[in-house]
Amino acid sequence: MKEIIPRPQSCILAKKGGTFDMARIDALDIDATFSLTAPIIKDILEKGLGKKLGKEGEKVLKIGFAQELSPQSYRIECDENGISVSAGDAAGALYAVQTLRVGSMMGTPLQDLNVPCGKVNDYPRYSWRGLLLDESRHFFGEEEVKKLLDVMSMHKLNVLHWHLTDDQGWRIEIKKYPLLTEIGSSRPRSQIHGWGSTDTDDVPVSGFYTQEKIKEIVAYAAERGISVIPEIDMPAHFAAAMAAYPWLACRELRRDVHYYFGSRIPLSQGVRDWNRSACIGKPATLQFIKDVIDEVCELFPAPYFHIGGDEAPKDEWKDCPACQELIRSLGLKNEKQLQGWFTNEIAKYVRGKGRRLIGWNEILEGDNIEKDVIVQYWTPQKDGRVIRHVKNGGNAIISKHKYFYFDMPYAQYPLRNTYMFNPYFEGFISMYDNKVKGIEGALWTEWISTPSKLEFQLFPRMEALAEASWYGGPKNWKKFQQRVKDYVPLLDMYGLNYAKDEIYRPCNH
Ligand code: ACM
Ligand code: ZN
Repeated sequence: MKEIIPRPQSCILAKKGGTFDMARIDALDIDATFSLTAPIIKDILEKGLGKKLGKEGEKVLKIGFAQELSPQSYRIECDENGISVSAGDAAGALYAVQTLRVGSMMGTPLQDLNVPCGKVNDYPRYSWRGLLLDESRHFFGEEEVKKLLDVMSMHKLNVLHWHLTDDQGWRIEIKKYPLLTEIGSSRPRSQIHGWGSTDTDDVPVSGFYTQEKIKEIVAYAAERGISVIPEIDMPAHFAAAMAAYPWLACRELRRDVHYYFGSRIPLSQGVRDWNRSACIGKPATLQFIKDVIDEVCELFPAPYFHIGGDEAPKDEWKDCPACQELIRSLGLKNEKQLQGWFTNEIAKYVRGKGRRLIGWNEILEGDNIEKDVIVQYWTPQKDGRVIRHVKNGGNAIISKHKYFYFDMPYAQYPLRNTYMFNPYFEGFISMYDNKVKGIEGALWTEWISTPSKLEFQLFPRMEALAEASWYGGPKNWKKFQQRVKDYVPLLDMYGLNYAKDEIYRPCNH
């Protein structure tokens, strides 16, 4: 039995030793309350054991509900006569089977189905273990997303944060505003050679998900224990929408879907109207945003809505009569507070639909954000407002750049950063631990245009993310490096590309 990633909280081997050979299992009895994940559980075991599993047989693997176990938790008890699994919910049941599968290397050339006798008691440290996928900057499509969902489930990750709109592309069909995808999903070229470069290629980028396809992918994720949270970035990172509907901007200029990345566009291009926030002083913009939210919420049942809110320039608001009039009439101090007012308005709107708002930590700049808004902390710079928000009772999700920005080169952010992440950083003392909902890795794709590069940046970082977000115990970097190597056949099973250790290791370790 190999060590499992992420490591279970407690694994106690029976003193007298012994094993049970999973090849003897010939039937599967899953509690009816686990119907959401039951088809995948059955599929994993049937593929791994190479046989169909009916309800009755000589050696039944029973997966039962246990009242005393919390959601996402499970227990595995193994003796020489068999294995019994209990779980707190459908996700916990799936995690138990993922543990059996990863531990036995099921489905790989190294498969060893002999499970040591003993007990596993396992539960996640954080209830939110996420991965952000940016499909605006580059579009990867259904097949790659489903592949990632399969692998996330194996790692016990449970949130796909889907970044579907940004300056460089709008990738979700909105029936009321068809130009969002007709115009907003295509750009003729892309910036190349890194931040600040003025070079572009001439490769067009396009693609979007229909509402039907979104529903299918959301259901696919749910069966694998994964919630999909949509991010519709606003009021900035909104240029694809403004290219489609120029009246969304303070100044109604013709704007392109961006083909430069980042918030600073090379000045030598003379492009002055590139990165701008939507005009939130106009009632029509607010109505547009609410209409979009109405359609998006129909597709994503999870009780959260991500509005981004990062990197919002305020200069056009300063010169805009509508924005200035709104600041005056609301008695706000400045444009930062205008963004705060906007965020609270949208928070109220999604609250009415049973959802909590999530935004990047810049949404706190106006110092007027409601407490129930969840803040995702990403900025490389320390942001004391996040600590204050948490102290005042708010929640946070941690995606700090140095540990969790998986688009960065390994030479800059080696794997060790992610693995060694210490949740008690920058004032996040243990007192506020229950205010941290969890951790997310962010896979931005400005410089990633192929699935192969996407996977290279992501693996084995996903293993470190899983370990940091699931396992609460002490760390051992040296052992972890070996465990990552041992895990490779499981990645090979999915045909994934990944970085090798000479790449992901820092040179001085
Ligand atoms: C971000 O990286 N702008 C959230
Ligand atoms: Zn305006």
